[in-house]
Amino acid sequence: MLNINSLLFDGHKILAESHSKTPKLDAEILLSSVLNKDLKEIIIEKKHYLNQSNINTFKEFIRRRKYGEPIAYILKKKEFWKYNFYVDNNVLIPRPDTEIIVEETLKLLNNDKKKFVLDVGTGSGCIIISLANERSNLMGTAIDISKKALKVAKINAKMHQLLNRIKFYNSSVDNFFKGKYDLIVSNPPYIRNLELKYLDRDIIGFEPLVSLSGGLDGSFVLNKVIKKSSSLLKIGGKLVLEIGFDQKYKVMSLLKKKEFYINKIVKDYANNERCIIATKT
Ligand SMILES: C[S@@+](CC[C@H](N)C(=O)[O-])C[C@H]1O[C@@H](n2cnc3c(N)ncnc32)[C@H](O)[C@@H]1O
Repeated sequence: MLNINSLLFDGHKILAESHSKTPKLDAEILLSSVLNKDLKEIIIEKKHYLNQSNINTFKEFIRRRKYGEPIAYILKKKEFWKYNFYVDNNVLIPRPDTEIIVEETLKLLNNDKKKFVLDVGTGSGCIIISLANERSNLMGTAIDISKKALKVAKINAKMHQLLNRIKFYNSSVDNFFKGKYDLIVSNPPYIRNLELKYLDRDIIGFEPLVSLSGGLDGSFVLNKVIKKSSSLLKIGGKLVLEIGFDQKYKVMSLLKKKEFYINKIVKDYANNERCIIATKT
């Protein structure tokens, strides 16, 4: 029989020899999930013994983490904004920086009349579902080029009881022609192809390439989103984009070419310019 203390010790040791940057915390999170307890509880209950089935599950989680699999994929869940989302390796794991996109978008959406919002490249659905949870007048549309991602987004919409307010389409943005929107939001893939190989192993080894790769200069999908938004937005409608830390000027120029008025550029927690808001004129 093994207790929490000895399992955490072993798990920490294995992960410390792997590439994990936070081996102790990783082991604690994995064990707390196996036991369905919060982190504080497992630290207080260190002498508590585990049954064999929980021991086996924990060991398997540690083995997967050792080979770089992100905790969110192992546990099949990720917190984003104020909510829990189901995730698997068909979708990008929602990032804290993307919460800035939600925060800025909410400032543009008051709760008076119906607002039609399109999320391009919805992935797990984390953006549109968070927005719809906060604004009961929001009617959402979410598209993704990946069928498998869309399946995950629908699981999340069902979990949040939003299937009646969000429509999902499997489509590339350039082939999407449905509707006119008050606001379009997008966190498209924006990493330059040449930079993909410098990403952490946890990312490039596990997250879907289609959610990361932005083509040669990183703006391949961004460009499509901007072009398409200029016809899908109502006049005065807003476009909220997540961009790479060094893409501000490139994206500003693409927006100006399509006659968008640039309202605001917002920095992320690391002080990088991460979100750009523009209006269709
Ligand atoms: C960076 S991920 C963002 C996922 C999610 N919105 C989020 O913020 O966590 C980009 C998403 O765009 C999708 N995508 C890539 N190219 C696309 C295209 N041409 N049209 C529509 N979606 C696309 C990918 O499948 C992926 O789900």
